Amino acid sequence: MNESAISQTLSDQQLTQIASALTESGYVLLSDFLPLHLTQSLLIEIHSLSDQAFKPAAIGRDNLQQLNEKIRSNTLHWLTGRTLVQQQYLGVMEQLRVAINRRLFMGLFDFECHYSHYAPGDFYKMHVDAFKGASNRVLSTVLYLNPQWQAEHAGELQLYSEDQSQLLLKIEPKFNDCVLFLSDTFPHEVKVTQRDRYSIAGWFRINATVAGQLDPPR
Ligand code: OGA
Ligand code: MN
Repeated sequence: MNESAISQTLSDQQLTQIASALTESGYVLLSDFLPLHLTQSLLIEIHSLSDQAFKPAAIGRDNLQQLNEKIRSNTLHWLTGRTLVQQQYLGVMEQLRVAINRRLFMGLFDFECHYSHYAPGDFYKMHVDAFKGASNRVLSTVLYLNPQWQAEHAGELQLYSEDQSQLLLKIEPKFNDCVLFLSDTFPHEVKVTQRDRYSIAGWFRINATVAGQLDPPR
């Protein structure tokens, strides 16, 4: 894609903030991440999807799947770019990918993301998104799509230091807030939510084939 074809939705100020936070701490929480009309369109699309369109995360069959359900109970729907609003979101993330590469030389190669739905009672226990050297996911992103979120709805994302000794961030999943963090560095968990909780989880990936290791499959 040539440069002029990449949308310029994020401001230089946002991009600079992101690059310096990633360099200094490896994570950043951004409020008012996207233009409101885009976040609103994403919210409309997620509400238009039927329950059947959301699938449990697949990490295998039978025993493995049961194990998976003890770790996470949310369901998901991959963005493919089949609608205009998905193309717009993927376009913004493409702008972010190019900007981060230019500033930080991270060699980000592509981006994948899915809508997530946590129904009341759902959670995602402590995990990392990538094991060091065993995944091509390097930078995690979560955009939240919940207007009028209240503290009593719980469902916080809690981000911990690499050795899990410190709670670094406790994030309420508020509309148009976005968190970015290095995928192999920060263990994190989603506390049980009391209310339907919507987000888009995504990963920038490097182009690396890791011998003998499959990436977390779709
Ligand atoms: C994930 C994840 C966090 C969130 O999907 O891997 O950690 O707040 N999501 O939805
Ligand atoms: Mn995660």
